[in-house]
Amino acid sequence: MPHALALWRDRRGRLSPLRIATLAVLVFPAALLLLDGARGALGGRPLNEAIHRTGWWALVFLLASLAVTPLRRSGGLARLFDVRRMIGVASFCYAALHITLFVFDLKLDLVKVGTEIVSRIYLTIGFLALLGLLVLAVTSNDTMVKRLGGLRWRRLHQATFAITSLALIHFFQQTKADVTVPTLYAGLFLWLVAYRLLAARRGDAGMTPPWLAGLACVVAALVFLGEGIGIALAFRQPLAEFLPRYFGTIADLEVGFRPGWSVLIAGLAVAALDAAQRLRDRMRAVSPNSLR
Ligand code: HEM
Repeated sequence: MPHALALWRDRRGRLSPLRIATLAVLVFPAALLLLDGARGALGGRPLNEAIHRTGWWALVFLLASLAVTPLRRSGGLARLFDVRRMIGVASFCYAALHITLFVFDLKLDLVKVGTEIVSRIYLTIGFLALLGLLVLAVTSNDTMVKRLGGLRWRRLHQATFAITSLALIHFFQQTKADVTVPTLYAGLFLWLVAYRLLAARRGDAGMTPPWLAGLACVVAALVFLGEGIGIALAFRQPLAEFLPRYFGTIADLEVGFRPGWSVLIAGLAVAALDAAQRLRDRMRAVSPNSLR
C-alpha cells in the first residue's frame, strides 16, 4: 500500500497520470498566487486580492468535487472517482488559507477576528462552511471510512451540499454589485442537486440523454427566472413588467452572456457525453471481437 501522502500514486502504489494531473491543477492557483505576490502583481491591496482568490478557488473545487458523480455516471469518466477526495481536501486547504489571510489582514488581532465573524452575518456563514469543510477533510481518509462504516461516512459527506449552500450564500452576500458569477455558480449547483434528485427517482439506467437534456433545459430556465426575479427585486421593479423585458434581452449578447446559458451548455455537454458513451458501448457490443 502506498504511503498516505504519496498522492501521485494509486491504491496499488503505481504512478497515476490522472492523480499527477489533478495535483498540478489543484496546486496551480496557490503557485500563481505566490508568484503574483512575489512580483507585486496583486494590485493595491494584495492581501484582499489573495483573500478573494483563495475563497474563489475553495468554492470552485467544492463544486468540482460535487461534479465528479455526474461525470462518472453519465460522462463516462469513471476514473475521476479516484481523485474526488483529493479535490474536496484541496477545497478545504484553500478555505483554510482564505481565513488565515483574513486573520493576517486584521493584523493577527484574534479578538477582532472573532468579533467580525460574530457580528457580520456573511462571515458567520463563511465560518460555518469552513467548520463543515474541516469535518469533511479530517474524515476524508481510509481509516475514517473504516471507523465510521461506509453508510455513516456517506451520510456525513452528504453535508457537502449544505456546506456548498452556505459558501454560495457567503459569496452572494459579499458581492457588492454584479452577481453574475455567484448566479452562475448557484445555477451549476442547482443542476448538481437536480441531477442527484432525478437519479434517485429514475435510477442510473433511467438517466438517458433525453432526460439529461430535459434536466439541463429545466434548470437553465430556473436560473434565468431566478436571475430575472433577483434583478427586479434589487432594482425594485414590478415583476410583471420587468420579467418580459428581461427575457427579451437574454439572447442579446451585447447585454452579456447570462449564467442560464452557461448552465444549459454544461448540462447539455453531460447529455452529449452520455450519448457518446452509450453509442461506444453499443458499437463494442456488436464489434467482430464480441461475435467470436
Ligand atoms: C471563517 C470563514 C471565512 C471568512 C472569515 C471569510 C472571509 C471572507 C472575506 C473577508 C471575503 C472578501 C469580502 C470583501 O472583500 O468584501 C470573502 C470572500 C469570499 N469567500 Fe470567504 N470567508 C470564510 C469562509 C469561506 C469559505 C468556507 C468559502 C468557500 C468554500 C469562502 C468563499 C468565498 C468566496 C467565493 C469569496 C468571494 C471571492 C471573489 O470575490 O471572487 N469563504 N471571504
